Amino acid sequence: MSTFDTDGTYEETRRAWDDASHKHVREYGDHLAQARTVRLLPIEEELLRPLLEGAEVLHPQSGHGLDDHALIRLGARSVLGLDYSPTAVSAAQRRADDLGVPCSYQVTELPHTGLDPSVADVVYTGKGALTWMEGLDAWAAEMHRLLRPGGHLFVYEAHPLVPLWSWDAEETWVRSDRSYFAASHVNDTFPARGATEHQRTLAQVVMTVLGAGFELLHLAEHPDPFWKPEDQVPAAAWDGRLPNAISLLARRADAPRT
Ligand SMILES: C[S@@+](CC[C@H](N)C(=O)[O-])C[C@H]1O[C@@H](n2cnc3c(N)ncnc32)[C@H](O)[C@@H]1O
Repeated sequence: MSTFDTDGTYEETRRAWDDASHKHVREYGDHLAQARTVRLLPIEEELLRPLLEGAEVLHPQSGHGLDDHALIRLGARSVLGLDYSPTAVSAAQRRADDLGVPCSYQVTELPHTGLDPSVADVVYTGKGALTWMEGLDAWAAEMHRLLRPGGHLFVYEAHPLVPLWSWDAEETWVRSDRSYFAASHVNDTFPARGATEHQRTLAQVVMTVLGAGFELLHLAEHPDPFWKPEDQVPAAAWDGRLPNAISLLARRADAPRT
């Protein structure tokens, strides 16, 4: 049982993710092909390229782990992916082994990892990660602990306003069943339908990262979502007028703030 389960949804969400992760097994051949050429987004490459040469990278909530191949090609020495889905972990490990790349994967229940302190130069995460974390303070403190002093935390994530956008093709409206200031909502799209997402505002995300002892180097809002469901007609919410993603880069200061 996780220490962060105030609403009793942790186990259900975990099961939903392990079920959803069978997609990585079904589509193994396709992922294998993608891994040979996959690249990060241009803003990710721009920010991370100078930090990755010889870096030991940690990827919490690594999921399918395709980005890990891109991180290696950008110069990372190794990537350690952490995810609580044994299905996701074994599919990603099989692919890394098949391709002979220095990526390894470990079943881990975040926010606590049990890893030694100061093991990473870069923490890379996001693309549907933070929203599953009920204890964001604990998560940020753990990332600070795992990074070497001066190490970098990079997050590319859904904008906290995204749960509010309807996905209608013609016109966007703010969903009446959601609030920007709510603590959580239930996911109603693939792949994690039925799982509980934990919300925080943009200010809360930034203040949590700062409060854990990081200094903020970069924060930007982006109009394109990091992911579009395959069976979804393009939503008006993605036409460039609304924020759909954020990028954040922070550096570990010497000690957590008190
Ligand atoms: C959207 S997916 C993957 C995001 C990943 N960056 C990617 O691009 O594939 C979110 C992942 O978070 C994992 N996850 C959710 N909550 C977790 C937790 N408490 N501990 C570890 N993994 C978790 C799920 O198993 C899932 O693989």
